[in-house]
Amino acid sequence: MSENCKGKASVSAALDMTPYIDAVRAFSDARTCKPRCFVLTFGCQQNVADSEKLAGMAENMGYEIVDAPEGADLILVNTCAIREHAEQKALSAVGQYKHLKEKNPALIIGICGCMVAQEHRREEIKKSYPYVSFVLCTSVIYRLPQYLFEVMEKGKRILRGEEEHTVAEGAPIRRESTYRASVSIMYGCNNFCSYCIVPYVRGRERSREPAAIIAEVKDLVAKGYKDITLLGQNVNSYGKDRTDGYAFPQLLADLDKIEGDYTLHFMTSHPKDATRALVDVMAESRHVAHSFHLPLQAGSDRILTLMNRHYDRAKYLDILDYMREKIPDISVTSDIIVGFPTETEAEFEETLEMLRRARFDMIYSFIYSPRKGTPAASMEGQIPHEVSAARMNRLLALQNEIAEAANKRLVGKTVRVLSEGVSKTDATTYTGRTDQNKIVFFKEPVMEGEWALVKIDRAAAFALWGEVEKS
Ligand code: SAH
Ligand code: SF4
Ligand code: F3S
Repeated sequence: MSENCKGKASVSAALDMTPYIDAVRAFSDARTCKPRCFVLTFGCQQNVADSEKLAGMAENMGYEIVDAPEGADLILVNTCAIREHAEQKALSAVGQYKHLKEKNPALIIGICGCMVAQEHRREEIKKSYPYVSFVLCTSVIYRLPQYLFEVMEKGKRILRGEEEHTVAEGAPIRRESTYRASVSIMYGCNNFCSYCIVPYVRGRERSREPAAIIAEVKDLVAKGYKDITLLGQNVNSYGKDRTDGYAFPQLLADLDKIEGDYTLHFMTSHPKDATRALVDVMAESRHVAHSFHLPLQAGSDRILTLMNRHYDRAKYLDILDYMREKIPDISVTSDIIVGFPTETEAEFEETLEMLRRARFDMIYSFIYSPRKGTPAASMEGQIPHEVSAARMNRLLALQNEIAEAANKRLVGKTVRVLSEGVSKTDATTYTGRTDQNKIVFFKEPVMEGEWALVKIDRAAAFALWGEVEKS
């Protein structure tokens, strides 16, 4: 495991990139046509947000952002390392760009994101992917102009890890949507759940200044953004690195004061740190959506201890019950890992029992994937894939029943939906999401990015159908 991202967080001002931006722009301007940049993104919303910064910086240096790799002059692959499959997908995408580099030797390929913070992956890229020009760790993504300049000017490969963990403000952001946006409020994670690679690849927790976050959200609301998600690996840790005690519930309350027509979401919350004070702020707020993502991971106390999660079933249910009491229409979603090392059949059944008790609206479920360098990867008692896969099928079957029952309770009710325009799979249908993030289909045309009130007449586990009452 690389030590790169284990160091203490330092919050410092980012280096000024202006000279590099100007130099790369000069390269771009000297060409007869605008150079093109393609960004491919894997992983979570944090990576999606980072990709918007990568594209913003590239645009700022004179690149046109394109949606296909063919014909691009710069390809940035933003990778995820959360499971083996995610890394394999990213590496296979990079493999497919080899022929593009052969056709166009001036093409620059850079690999960004969580995967390249691991030394063994950088070694692999160095040896097996010689056509990759640079790797860029998430903690220094604001340095893209510098890396590009060095590759262009010196023609050298850059394959170093980074020790620096900054909160870099001011990178231009090229937002994908005109009505839905995410805002990172903090970076990194201090929790070291025993299965998880994130603390090693994203470094220690560091919070952005409240004023910077508030200004960004204000600006988004003023530009007409309707759905804003605050991002962090554990948003409940927001502010723990500050000395004035300003914490996440306060930030949420301050953001809620911003006037405008918008909804606030946040993710992710760690059950050990989710507090009643936060639920109270949500209950009293005007803009915070009644939805909560609270990853349970497992239903057995012994497994939760082995996972280093620092809560048990009782503590989890305590905060869950409080949420449901204070905000009766709240939608709660969760993450579950099946087949954690040593998980017995009886312990897996405890997870099923928790699902029945918690009645999640939706879950994201994963088969445990050993991550090199994490404690769980070297535990005795790794579970064979067939056993985990069979458990996963049972988990999904049960969750389908629960989600369907939860959605059926909405039949006959009117919900507010943010339209996403015409459905990608059926040109005669429109689609959108409720404040609780549920997918709704309807026939009446409602422009993308506009709210509509939809009366639900049919429900399944993953979607709702209805008629627009008012838009
Ligand atoms: N910070 C968030 C989650 C980030 S990762 C949190 O603490 O909840 C998203 C999800 O991926 C995790 O909640 C977990 O369920 C899953 N995950 C993380 N590491 C994994 C691994 N090694 N194998 C399988 N799933 C994993
Ligand atoms: Fe990973 Fe745990 Fe941190 Fe979430 S809280 S990112 S699961 S270490
Ligand atoms: Fe993947 Fe990194 Fe997110 S490992 S899940 S992209 S924080």
